[in-house]
Amino acid sequence: MVKLRKNNIVLIGYMGSGKSTVGALLAKMLNFEFYDTDVMIERREQQTIDQLFESKGEEHFRELETMLIRELISSLDTSVLSTGGGMPLREQNRKLLSELGFVVYLKTSVQASVKRLRYDQTRPLLKGENLEDRVGQMLELRAPIYEATADMRIVTDLIRPKEIAEIIIKEYKKWQIS
Ligand code: S3P
Repeated sequence: MVKLRKNNIVLIGYMGSGKSTVGALLAKMLNFEFYDTDVMIERREQQTIDQLFESKGEEHFRELETMLIRELISSLDTSVLSTGGGMPLREQNRKLLSELGFVVYLKTSVQASVKRLRYDQTRPLLKGENLEDRVGQMLELRAPIYEATADMRIVTDLIRPKEIAEIIIKEYKKWQIS
C-alpha cells in the first residue's frame, strides 16, 4: 500500500503539555531533526509570540501558522515537529498536520496544565485572572479537536518525558509499517 503521508512525528496538544521537551528528546533518540513551529515563527518575524499577539493580533498569528505548515509539507520529512497549542484549530491545518506524518496528542488534565502554566509569562492567551477557569474552558473546546486529529494520544500528567518518548517511538514504528 502506498502511504500518502510523510514520516514526521507531529506533536499536538495544549500549552504546557510537554511538546517541546518531548519533541527534542524524541529527535535525539531517533536521530531526527527537531522543529518547533512557535520558534520558527518567532525567528522569521523577529518577535516573540507575545509581541506578535500584541502588535498584530491573534488572527495574524494564526495566518502565520497556516502559511508555515503549508510550507513544511514540501520541505519536512523524517523529522519531529512540535506545534503551537492552537495549530489544530483550523480545519486546513488539521489536514496538513495529518499529511505531515504520525500525529501524537500529548494530553494533560486541567490541574496539571494549571500547575505547569501558573507562573508562565510568555503565553498571551493565558494572561489575566482565573487561570483554572480559562484552561478548563479552552480544554473543553479543544480536547475533541486534538483527539480527532491524532493518530495516538498519551496522558502526560504522571509520566516522565523519556518514558513518553519511548512509548511514542514504539507506536511510531508500528505506524510506519502499517
Ligand atoms: C497557543 C499556544 C502557544 C503559542 C501561542 C498560542 C495556543 O504554543 O502558539 O501562545 O493557542 O494554545 P505552546 O502550545 O507551545 O505553548
